[in-house]
Amino acid sequence: MSARSHPIMVALDVPDAEAALALASRLEGIPCWMKVGMELYYAAGPDLVRRLKAQGHRIFLDLKFHDIPNTVAGAARSASKLGVDMFNVHAAGGSAMMRAAVEAAGEASTTGETPLVIAVTQLTSTTEETMRREIGIDAPLADVVVRYAALAKAAGLHGVVSSALEAAAVKAACGADFVTVTPGIRPAGADVGDQARVMTPAKALANGADYLVIGRPITKAPDPREALLRIVEEIENAKGEARP
Ligand code: C5P
Repeated sequence: MSARSHPIMVALDVPDAEAALALASRLEGIPCWMKVGMELYYAAGPDLVRRLKAQGHRIFLDLKFHDIPNTVAGAARSASKLGVDMFNVHAAGGSAMMRAAVEAAGEASTTGETPLVIAVTQLTSTTEETMRREIGIDAPLADVVVRYAALAKAAGLHGVVSSALEAAAVKAACGADFVTVTPGIRPAGADVGDQARVMTPAKALANGADYLVIGRPITKAPDPREALLRIVEEIENAKGEARP
């Protein structure tokens, strides 16, 4: 399933397996990935991931590993054995940790297909001011994202999570094949919530994003299926307009 034809990843940020399966079934037939994050995984565990996989969904396991290399290698092995298609680690864990994750994922894969291992650069809820004042990184946010992306690439990772605002700079620095996964996506007029660095789906793709992680604009919509279909349509229309 290529990113270009199926770029949407629905963030299943719901409290339990029942809610996740109900949402997945409402979205049935619309090509998209399912992103299982902390809220759902810590409630429903690996069983839910297996059930979603059995329904034919591509899974991004978004648990953002960040620990010593040996522990992250163990987590990567478990994720890989579970059969997820993508998982992530924090680039801030350093290159030894990232290398350990990608090596362990390759060794443990049971499907013959190694999951994509992606590095979180800076959370899309982080502003440059927070980064400078609280996290203690005194540099322009875009530079930090690109530096982490280059570090991730050198460690053998397949791509990064970043805001769509930085996707073009990541591609310019790391190459077109280096995958960009972008949360902080908001269709025109949607509530921004706690996200700080946001972009519309069509603009994000035009800016070099390969995958668009979209949560609340779909999951909290009165009709999630309708909301997802509208986003797919917005993307298709933009593609049409971009063609000469
Ligand atoms: O609801 P919303 O569209 O803001 O959801 C975004 C999703 O992407 C959430 O599940 C969040 O955990 C995840 N995410 C993010 N920023 C990152 C990495 C993941 O918002 N850097």
